[in-house]
Amino acid sequence: DNHAWIAPTATDLRSPCPGLNTLANHGYLPRDGRNISIPMMLSAAIDAFNVAPDAILQAAKFGLLSGDAPTTLNLDALSLHNLIEHDASLSRGDFALGDNLHFNETIFTTLANANPGVDYYDATSASHVQDERLAISLATNPNITNTGKEFDVRTRESGLYLSVMGNPLTGVAPKPFVQIFFREERLPIAEGWKRSKTAITAESLNPIQNTIFELSNWTATQACEDLVLGP
Ligand code: HEM
Ligand code: MG
Repeated sequence: DNHAWIAPTATDLRSPCPGLNTLANHGYLPRDGRNISIPMMLSAAIDAFNVAPDAILQAAKFGLLSGDAPTTLNLDALSLHNLIEHDASLSRGDFALGDNLHFNETIFTTLANANPGVDYYDATSASHVQDERLAISLATNPNITNTGKEFDVRTRESGLYLSVMGNPLTGVAPKPFVQIFFREERLPIAEGWKRSKTAITAESLNPIQNTIFELSNWTATQACEDLVLGP
């Protein structure tokens, strides 16, 4: 099976993104984490997760700016702070506090323990998790970057973990699937997870993200320049 989960070796490169790392750990992306093009990321995301190009194309394009190669990236370079990588992540530390690349179980406690009493996460719990993670970063990181850009990216990422590990139409995701995705960067197939039958698109992510926007108590720490993201 070409798509068996295999842990990365000492020389394989991995990123601060549990999605891309899972794709590499299952061989949908090169297992060495090197020389990855945009078409390779788009195909891998469809094949493994049924995530459509329009949901990740912008991130993939920004990702190329992480290195010098004209059309490819290496996964570890994606930890470049304030390109895509941001503070108050769900599973990684803040850049100014040391390690913004590797999974950190202490950081992940907030999400792991969210939505007590039930066996799923949803957009409501995700909004609380984002607020809590930001509060912790604000209290511990004097160099935090927290502008509208970061809030948008963080909300998109919450929509993605709910959708790829759960039901993209409801944004409800079983806790064990989400936890395996973050902790092991593995598709929880043995535990009963299945690739979504409906495509995960910008359109399907929108209502989940809007719920998070509405329920979150987010405020900016700094202003950000207006971003031009496309034609
Ligand atoms: C972070 C999912 C594609 C780059 C994240 C996070 C999730 C996620 C859930 C949040 C991690 C955390 O807060 O600890 C996905 C899924 C994808 C995908 C399901 C579908 C294939 C991409 C692509 C790129 C990218 C195409 C760019 C090439 C990043 C980076 C981060 C990240 C740099 C780190 C942000 C941070 O937490 O500081 N992703 N992602 N991702 N993703 Fe992805
Ligand atoms: Mg981060």
